[in-house]
Amino acid sequence: MTTLAILTAAGSGTRLGFDLPKALVPLRGLPLVLHAARRLTASGVVDALVVTAPNGLVSAMSDVLEHDPHVSVPVVVVAGGATRQSSVAAGLSRARADVDVVVVHDAARPLAPAAMIRRIVETVREGHQAVIPGVPVVDTIKVVAPRDPQHGLPDGVDRVASTPERTLLRAVQTPQAFDRALLVRAHVAGAARARTEATAATDDASLVEALGEEVFVVPGHELAMKVTTARDFYYIEKLLTEDAR
Ligand code: C5P
Repeated sequence: MTTLAILTAAGSGTRLGFDLPKALVPLRGLPLVLHAARRLTASGVVDALVVTAPNGLVSAMSDVLEHDPHVSVPVVVVAGGATRQSSVAAGLSRARADVDVVVVHDAARPLAPAAMIRRIVETVREGHQAVIPGVPVVDTIKVVAPRDPQHGLPDGVDRVASTPERTLLRAVQTPQAFDRALLVRAHVAGAARARTEATAATDDASLVEALGEEVFVVPGHELAMKVTTARDFYYIEKLLTEDAR
C-alpha cells in the first residue's frame, strides 16, 4: 500500500500581486508550497511527493523542498502543464508501479491540516475510491445563462438560468484522494476531451464524475482555504497565527 501525493504548484498566481509564482510566495517566512508539503508529510499517510513547478522553476522548487528537514518523504519536482489538469497528469505519469492511492493537493491551500489529509486517505483505503473535502455554502448561488450576443445584454449584466438548492451545495477543497487506477482512467478520458473541446477541469473529482463513477464528500476545513487574492493572504496569515497558539 503506497500513497503518492501530487502537489500542484505550477500556477502563476498573478492575482496575488507578488512578482513570484504563488507557490513560492512566503507565508510567515516559508513558501506556500513548503507549508503544504510539510502538512502532507505530517499526515503520516503519504509515502512520496511529486510537485509540479512552473516551467523554468523546477530546480528553484527542488531547492525549497529537498533540504527541508520536515519533508521526510522522497520528493520529485516536474514541470507542470498549461492547465491544472495537465499539471496533475504530468505528476501522475511519475507514479511508481506500487502506488495504489493518489492524493492531489494544491499548494494554493497551504494550511490543510494533517488530520484532514489523513481522514481523506483513510476513507479511500476503506473502499471509497474518490474522496473530496467540501464545506457548506453560505451564499445563495445562481447559475447564469451562457452569454449570447443575440440577447443584446449590456456588459456586466447576465441572465439567471437557475438557483440550485443551497443545502445541497458544497464548496470543494483539496486534498482530493483517489484509487490510482480510477484517477488514471479519469485523466486519460479528460485529456481526450481537452483535445476536442479545449476545456480543462478545475478539479480531479469532476474528471471522475465524467466517467459516471461515484465521488464522496467528507467535511472540509477552514484551514484548507485557497489563497488567491492579497486579501486571502492576509486572512490565512491570521489563521496560521491562531493555529500555532
Ligand atoms: O489557478 P488555481 O488557483 O486554480 O490553481 C490551483 C492549483 O493548481 C495551484 O496550486 C496552482 O499552482 C496549480 N496549477 C498548476 N498548473 C497550472 C495551473 C495551476 O499546477 N497550469
